[in-house]
Amino acid sequence: MSRLLDILGCKYPIIQGPIGATNSPKLVAEICEAGAFGMLAMGFISNAEEAKRLARDVRELTDKPFGANLMTMNPLNPEILEVLAESGVKTVTTSAGSPRNLYPLLHELGMKGLHVMLAFSYAVKAEDAGVDGLVVSGAESGGLRSVNPESSNMILVPLVVDHVKVPVVAAGGIADSRGYRAALALGAEGVQVGTRFLASEESSAPKAWKEAIINCSDGGTTLLPLGNMMMRVIVNPKLKAQMSDPETDLAKEYNLMNVPEAWGKGNFDLFPAGAGQISARIHEIKPVRKIIEEMVS
Ligand SMILES: Cc1cc2nc3c(=O)[nH]c(=O)nc-3n(C[C@H](O)[C@H](O)[C@H](O)COP(=O)(O)O)c2cc1C
Repeated sequence: MSRLLDILGCKYPIIQGPIGATNSPKLVAEICEAGAFGMLAMGFISNAEEAKRLARDVRELTDKPFGANLMTMNPLNPEILEVLAESGVKTVTTSAGSPRNLYPLLHELGMKGLHVMLAFSYAVKAEDAGVDGLVVSGAESGGLRSVNPESSNMILVPLVVDHVKVPVVAAGGIADSRGYRAALALGAEGVQVGTRFLASEESSAPKAWKEAIINCSDGGTTLLPLGNMMMRVIVNPKLKAQMSDPETDLAKEYNLMNVPEAWGKGNFDLFPAGAGQISARIHEIKPVRKIIEEMVS
């Protein structure tokens, strides 16, 4: 068994990329049942009870191990970690900030953690902070991105692999067996997959979101500025018009706080649909079991 599979406790080294405000216990459970590692997203959770309920809902659907993602800046993290540990969660990922304060508690609770990082310098710091593994998320990935210049996975994954001792997972641009094998060839021990699972049959994303991914062509995503961060989103007609207007300050037009409503209802004028560059290679909504079986074939 690889070091990563030892940490995750599943059959295949494939992690479900957590998707902000979008949680579907059914999707998490299906991914686990198909041999990969399902993940809940705790970034937008407003109380620990909600975390407990989500973990319980997953547990009712599968007895396989699953995980959860925590945003480091969430003040509720200690409570969330405790309810997750009580619910039997043994592995979490941490993202969007320094892992230093979270890991002592996480380890005290008997958990392991993989830290998500977007640039080489953060990988070295995270390893130094005691993380058990790293999720390396290149510029092509969906989700929150940095305002600093970024490298894509072809560069970032081997760069990090060559400098750290902990297992590395590649996130971004992976939707099929070619992407999966390429990530392993670059030295990653596993992959994290966001957009492909978002456009799956079991995903609770509204139809409009899945269709936006399927209809997205090459170059169809952009980095939406949000102050000190960016978000990779699919360009829609409203956003396209705003982008060509030099008077429009996009950071003032879109508020991250509107993400739960916008993505939950498919209202992409309120906040554009989040997705990775890999959308250009996703043409069909498929069941997760089929996606996973094809990926490891
Ligand atoms: C819409 C969207 C929301 C995301 N939200 C989170 C999040 O809350 N926490 C996190 O660690 N990663 C988040 N991610 C990143 C994914 O978990 C995953 O690493 C990324 O999507 C991988 O790139 P891919 O979309 O090319 O597969 C998000 C990605 C997308 C597309």
